[in-house]
Amino acid sequence: MPKLLFTILFLMLVLTTAGCSGNFSHNSEKIVSKPPVPANKSSVPRKNENSTQQDTSIQVISDPEVIPVLVNKKNKLPESYNPSDLVFPDIPFTFKEKLPKREMRTEAADAIEKLFAGANQDGVSLLGVSAYRSHETQTALFNHYVSMDGYDSALTYSALPGTSEHETGLAIDVTGGNGKCAAEECFEGTLEAEWLQNHAAEYGFIIRYPKGKESITGYKYEPWHLRYVGEAIAKEIMNRGITLEEYLNTTPVNH
Ligand code: DAL
Ligand code: ZN
Repeated sequence: MPKLLFTILFLMLVLTTAGCSGNFSHNSEKIVSKPPVPANKSSVPRKNENSTQQDTSIQVISDPEVIPVLVNKKNKLPESYNPSDLVFPDIPFTFKEKLPKREMRTEAADAIEKLFAGANQDGVSLLGVSAYRSHETQTALFNHYVSMDGYDSALTYSALPGTSEHETGLAIDVTGGNGKCAAEECFEGTLEAEWLQNHAAEYGFIIRYPKGKESITGYKYEPWHLRYVGEAIAKEIMNRGITLEEYLNTTPVNH
């Protein structure tokens, strides 16, 4: 076949398959522009009415600043997203330095201060381990786990960059006052883990990756990972023993 004719046929094939948007993507990623959230529901993402539909793509979140934002293996933050109102909550961490991983968004920071104070009143001592992570930090962390455990294993407990709640400034890993079992399986069943299970919702936090819900969240049980969603939603989720995915009627994340 003459070279010119071959080139024309090839270009026609590519343009037909990709559509006319010119939006070439990798790994089935695509930007989905959602309709604007109505003003009177501006803080709550819409529930997916069509929850039985299989969704195999990764959507880029169009409204990452809303407090109950769903960030998971199917919904990633925009590449350039940085939370706008990060502050340093006045709580103790497992380290002394004033590092960015102490930061949280203002509303979540206020709430975590109240949660720590409430725990103290009940005789339960807590320490922060890791809160906000930039996209670059999550990338380095995920790559580190891949080099240790391999890609598939890392995916069961660490989020791909762009899909970690830590990048929202609304999540924090915590541990007990002795600093042991920080983000480790031995935190399960401790006094502190039990207290969090029973009381986190009073302060607007959920245990984001519950036991037995791995096929829905895509992650192993993490009794230490708190996610701020606001008090009303947190209470409903924790009282019903469900996940944020179930609350929002989205498809489970099966990895
Ligand atoms: N460990 C959780 C899933 C994260 O990496 O965000
Ligand atoms: Zn975490």
